[in-house]
Amino acid sequence: MEPLKIITVVGARPQFIKAAAISRAIAEHNLAGGRAIEERIVHTGQHYDSSMSQVFFDQLKIPKPWKNLEVGSGSHGKQTGIMLERLEEAFFEMEPDLLITFGDTNSTLASALTASKLHVPIAHIEAGLRSFNRKMPEEINRVVTDHISTWLFCPSQISVDNLAKEGILDGVYTSGDVMFDALLFNQKLAQEHSTAVADLNLEPRKYHLATVHRAENTDDADRLKQILSAFDQLNLPVVLPIHPRTAACIERHGFEVPTNMRTIPPADYLDMLQLVSNSKYVFTDSGGLQKEAYWLGRGCITLRDETEWTELVDVGWNRIVGANCDRILECERTGFTDVDSQDTNLYGDGQAARSIVKTLVDSV
Ligand code: UD1
Repeated sequence: MEPLKIITVVGARPQFIKAAAISRAIAEHNLAGGRAIEERIVHTGQHYDSSMSQVFFDQLKIPKPWKNLEVGSGSHGKQTGIMLERLEEAFFEMEPDLLITFGDTNSTLASALTASKLHVPIAHIEAGLRSFNRKMPEEINRVVTDHISTWLFCPSQISVDNLAKEGILDGVYTSGDVMFDALLFNQKLAQEHSTAVADLNLEPRKYHLATVHRAENTDDADRLKQILSAFDQLNLPVVLPIHPRTAACIERHGFEVPTNMRTIPPADYLDMLQLVSNSKYVFTDSGGLQKEAYWLGRGCITLRDETEWTELVDVGWNRIVGANCDRILECERTGFTDVDSQDTNLYGDGQAARSIVKTLVDSV
């Protein structure tokens, strides 16, 4: 039997983590026998700094990309447009049976558009998420991708419900979240190998961990100022692995780095798991980190006006405070009521990648 030919497109940091879980499940499938899968990974090159890209391939043992399209940074239109052109060539060359794409980045949108024009069916992993804020580039990316996908793998029931409200009922699977698979697989490795907490002279629960990178926070001087001002006034020091765009924006807006904030280079995956596990609270505008905080038992304060991961708010493990200095400070004061994340597992059982691969093999 001919192998099932899968083209997997990644481009930005969180997609590397998700792809690692899928590639591992594909390798397991091939070892077990049955119809073989030939997976070729295409890296668009959206993230290109070593600390944002290569480090993840090395640490998570992701197969080397078949191609790196080296698209790099640019305006949304330019970045997406160049991806479309280069991805189409890759599709022509490989003639895949299906595309796997993840999440909501410009790489997701470009890969889905490329596939749909060539009538290659699309498997969208992390389908059905909605912030209901159409000013976010990610919201447009995910809505469009969902509407042209054949298989929609949803991390939670709420994402299934979101799709139903938009009339998407066929091909929808509640698979659970591949990021949970990745976390379970790597948690012990992180405990054994990461020295980040000691290297930074941090003591467990005596610091907060923060990340800020969303355009709505970094590009808006007032929002960024409020966030930095809050970080300066928190009772515990704030460790901030800094995204290159945020570093550039702090400089461009002419802001000082607050004395209570310690910026460090972007952390690799295992270091990040350890930094979150040992923190007091997590302050973030990232999507993935909100869930990682929950899985690792840390309260999360979300620096956005809404979240796609509303289940976390419902169970009391996440507070949405926007970029409001007073509200950020208030959350540190009030703290969190403990929630046992193992008892309230909202995003599957850590076997999402395996079930996704099985669904795809069985249905093509
Ligand atoms: C992208 C995703 C976002 C995701 C995030 C994870 C979109 C629209 N957004 O945002 O959903 O949460 O990745 O990090 O796709 N830069 C570098 N080096 C790099 C990468 C980026 O210096 O390796 C800088 C460049 O100045 C670039 C800026 O960061 O212009 C923004 O990068 P980009 O990939 O466009 O978006 P992200 O903000 O990373």
